[in-house]
Amino acid sequence: MITGSKLDGIALIVGSGSGIGREVSFSLAEAGTKVIVFADRNEDTAKATSEESKKYASNKDYQTAVFKMDVQDAQSVQDMVDFVVKQYGRLDYAINAAGVDNGKNAPIAETDIDNFDRIMNINTRGNLVCVRAQIAAMRKQEPKTWTSRNGTRDIGRGVIINLASANSFVGLPGKGSYTISKHGFMGITKMAALDHAAEGIRVNAVCPTWVRTPLLDIELQKNPEVQGMISAIVPIKRAAECEEVSDTIAFLCSPAASYINGASLLIDAAVTTTVRLF
Ligand SMILES: NC(=O)c1ccc[n+]([C@@H]2O[C@H](COP(=O)([O-])OP(=O)(O)OC[C@H]3O[C@@H](n4cnc5c(N)ncnc54)[C@H](O)[C@@H]3O)[C@@H](O)[C@H]2O)c1
Repeated sequence: MITGSKLDGIALIVGSGSGIGREVSFSLAEAGTKVIVFADRNEDTAKATSEESKKYASNKDYQTAVFKMDVQDAQSVQDMVDFVVKQYGRLDYAINAAGVDNGKNAPIAETDIDNFDRIMNINTRGNLVCVRAQIAAMRKQEPKTWTSRNGTRDIGRGVIINLASANSFVGLPGKGSYTISKHGFMGITKMAALDHAAEGIRVNAVCPTWVRTPLLDIELQKNPEVQGMISAIVPIKRAAECEEVSDTIAFLCSPAASYINGASLLIDAAVTTTVRLF
């Protein structure tokens, strides 16, 4: 492991109870994070994940806490960030992994506006509310430094990583509402990075295609055609493993990534590099 990829700070993972957020907690714990606050609207899964993460922790002082919240409720988001700062003194790494899929797929002309509002409220507005509260806390804390073989440098006040999507760049037929919401989330990432870089806050997004979460496994059981789609579209013919996303997130939080800001990093095995004709 390169020494610059080690972590030692206080983390908050929103959407930590399942899928990618769950696996992020394992990657952050392995990398040395001292505290992880597990936020989710599902308290039971967040609690279970928080317990499971202890198996992977490399920091001897590793601690966890669970916070029930909903990204659609701005007060619960503010309470969550206040809890982290009051309890642990600062917020070093905030991961925004709460999100929902498209619901019933439909072409734009048949968009169900109630469904569109629901998706935008969680994936875009809800995540903006999270990023806003996290930055407001980070900008008040002291910056950190990192000492490497080449001396000491400022690595800033805090890092935010957003779970956007390959759909932040391209569309999939029928997935209009999700695609629009994820384009918005990439916009939030760019603007937050730009507006707060001078304050030492880095904001990046990771943008995966299909990831092997339990939800994808259920989808594959219900609809085996999805496997055919993955084989046809993904050049390496498989979905990403969760840790192929979560380990990247741990790296982006680390001092090794201290010059990466405003990036939307595709994790897509080159899916979006070409037009597929057959
Ligand atoms: N799984 C994939 O293939 C894939 C691909 C690209 C992007 N993503 C994105 O990654 C993120 C995580 O996806 P996942 O597959 O791990 O999903 P998931 O459903 O397994 O996990 C999402 C977590 O977020 C929580 N959550 C949902 N709505 C919430 C809300 N309103 N408030 C608080 N918590 C809430 C859920 O309880 C759950 O624990 C999403 O934003 C998704 O769009 C996933």
